[in-house]
Amino acid sequence: MKKYTEKFSTDFLWGGAISANQAEGAWNEDGKGLDMAYCFPDGLHFKYKGAPKEGVYYPQAEAIDFYHRYKEDIALFAQMGFKVFRTSIHWTRIFPNGDDEVPNEKGLQFYDDLFDELLKYDIQPLITISHYEMPVNLVEKYGSWKNRKLIDFFEKYCTTIFNRYKDKVKYWLTFNEINNMRRNADYVAGVVFNGTENREQRQNMIYQAAHHMFVANAKANRLCHLIIPDAKIGCMLSLSNIYPYNCDPVAVFETMDIRRKSLFYSDVMLRGEYPSYILRSWHEDNVNVVMEEGDLELIKKYPSQFLAFSYYKTSAHEAGKPSFFDTGGEQNSLNPFLKTSDWGWQIDPLGFRYTLNELYDRYQVPLFPVENGLGANDVVIDGKIHDDYRIEYLKEHLKALKEAIKDGVEIMGYTYWGPIDIVSAGTGEMEKRYGFIYVDKDNDGNGTLKRIKKDSFEWYKRVIMTNGENL
Ligand code: BG6
Repeated sequence: MKKYTEKFSTDFLWGGAISANQAEGAWNEDGKGLDMAYCFPDGLHFKYKGAPKEGVYYPQAEAIDFYHRYKEDIALFAQMGFKVFRTSIHWTRIFPNGDDEVPNEKGLQFYDDLFDELLKYDIQPLITISHYEMPVNLVEKYGSWKNRKLIDFFEKYCTTIFNRYKDKVKYWLTFNEINNMRRNADYVAGVVFNGTENREQRQNMIYQAAHHMFVANAKANRLCHLIIPDAKIGCMLSLSNIYPYNCDPVAVFETMDIRRKSLFYSDVMLRGEYPSYILRSWHEDNVNVVMEEGDLELIKKYPSQFLAFSYYKTSAHEAGKPSFFDTGGEQNSLNPFLKTSDWGWQIDPLGFRYTLNELYDRYQVPLFPVENGLGANDVVIDGKIHDDYRIEYLKEHLKALKEAIKDGVEIMGYTYWGPIDIVSAGTGEMEKRYGFIYVDKDNDGNGTLKRIKKDSFEWYKRVIMTNGENL
């Protein structure tokens, strides 16, 4: 039986998280191919616009130039005492078209160098294999994950990177926020609609693609156990939470139903089975997922080992009211008990503890909150950024995390989202800033890219140094 504990474990993985497409830039350097993130110049709220066009500003094309400046940035993460750093491998640096015969050596070398730099400071890489970075060629030539062939391309990509980095990377995640494909199938999974499909057809496309991704997830898990037996591989979901707006039983039931639409993805990947509640919605929407013999056995045999997730906020659902959706998850009615961020996300530290408990009760697997943070308008005054609001957000969320540990929840670590300012996935803005490190660049691409420490830098450093003792 486990013992009651009040402290963060001594091997708790403190750190920060970014993605390749929001930070690296160098969008066509060293043999890199074109990926989906560059086809949404205004972030994922807007529609797929196809390959980059002359005269359109693409914030991710340069981003914060992490590709050339990672040594300087990692040195700053090391100063804060990071134990772990999450980023993604850009699939198109390794396989520029996704279906190439041989990998791109320059791309492989870049990540070798990046991981060496992290390990030099004893920072463990936590690597997302696919973070909204689908090769455009796979979308245009094959229809992306709707096509079963994608499983083979993904398997080859995984085999390549597991073999190459087996001595350097011990923590892996398969698909970033896979559950967001139910509302943003293009950005998340490369499933692009042409606008003529009805709801039934769209649902069929999404669930078929999801099934292929579940099989790919199981195959990646199997490969990882085989090639890197001492590594851990998890799934990753967007799990900012949603409450019923009031005690109207209709609102309560609908809220459960909305939550299940997300938890469906972790139910399959962690329990290894399709949950029975999905059958009714498939029946009503006339969804028929084509599965091959052996698929279900594979999914059952190779579940994910832990659940990684993003948590930014909560929203409240009123009976019968349709919700709007963005990178933070469902947006519905404003909760009168909560404060709201500059970008309209409601700040809810207790919701973090609630979510950690909800997920551990459901799955009893280790949890890893790999995204949490505050996107805000920061102002530079005399070369300094006094971001007390970010410190406050972080402090309250870490207190909630500690309470969850006391509740008995098993938590591997915590990676703050965007420890350095990066391009927003949702809006394409540079000025939606999360960082402890400011990057001198604005929404139009002006700026020197100079890095400046904000007040939160020293605060987070102290948290890590004291292993979360003095919050
Ligand atoms: C998550 C994504 O949805 O939220 C990140 O995994 C994203 O890529 C983060 O950046 C925050 O969202 P945004 O829209 O503020 O960048």
